[in-house]
Amino acid sequence: MNNATGKRVLALVRGDDYAHPGEEEANGLLFAGLVPDRRRRVLDAGCGGAGTAAWARQRGLGAVTGIEIDPATAELGRRRHPDVTIVQGDLQRASRIVDGPFDLMYAMTAVYAVPDQDAVFRELALLAAAGAELRLLEYADPHGHFAAATGDSATLAWWRPLVPLRLPETLAAAGWSSVCVRDLHPEFIAWYTQLCARIHDKRDRIRREFGDDWYAFVAAEYAGILELVRERALGGVLVRAKRGRDSG
Ligand SMILES: C[S@@+](CC[C@H](N)C(=O)[O-])C[C@H]1O[C@@H](n2cnc3c(N)ncnc32)[C@H](O)[C@@H]1O
Repeated sequence: MNNATGKRVLALVRGDDYAHPGEEEANGLLFAGLVPDRRRRVLDAGCGGAGTAAWARQRGLGAVTGIEIDPATAELGRRRHPDVTIVQGDLQRASRIVDGPFDLMYAMTAVYAVPDQDAVFRELALLAAAGAELRLLEYADPHGHFAAATGDSATLAWWRPLVPLRLPETLAAAGWSSVCVRDLHPEFIAWYTQLCARIHDKRDRIRREFGDDWYAFVAAEYAGILELVRERALGGVLVRAKRGRDSG
């Protein structure tokens, strides 16, 4: 679904240009505990249509710059959310396409789509202000079963869900410390169950606006994802880290 039409279908189902599970509830988890500060410099890594970035900005959490690789999606985000600065480019080269430093850097289900995740974490560290915080709400592969479960899927086999147990080491090597990882499996079950129900409820509108094929594709795709989550071949994680090295 990482193309502009797919994101429009999902925006219809989810509302507000979100291309992530859990919509506003997920936003609440990702930004939990942050007090409003309009001077906070915020980077949204893989911002999509900028629904999350606009949500954060509207709550006074800072001035948000988004990086988005897909030109049509970046343009959609700019049109719909002119209060967010969106730079089209690749997170694997983030430090060469935007100017830091940033106080808060986050990714809402975007790093799973990048082949070289170590490069993303290194690039974000290069753009981080001293003491900056990194927050991720991402797909996870908690038991290493994802590749085997999706090997024959054209739409999922390229996903790289994060492996929670490896994250502390991976992030430390990229210059992040105080890594904290929380499992979101129960939330992902609930969110994908709700999403499948909403796709079903909105079937007439999806068919009317996008055609029968798009409806059939989206319904099957998300039923398949829910099944993967139920089998624990796919899950979610919430990650927090700080820029800097752990002492000792
Ligand atoms: C599932 S969508 C999530 C979008 C947004 N974060 C949200 O929550 O609505 C993942 C986004 O990451 C973008 N993306 C994937 N690989 C990227 C890369 N290497 N650099 C920048 N953006 C990337 C995709 O084009 C897509 O818009």
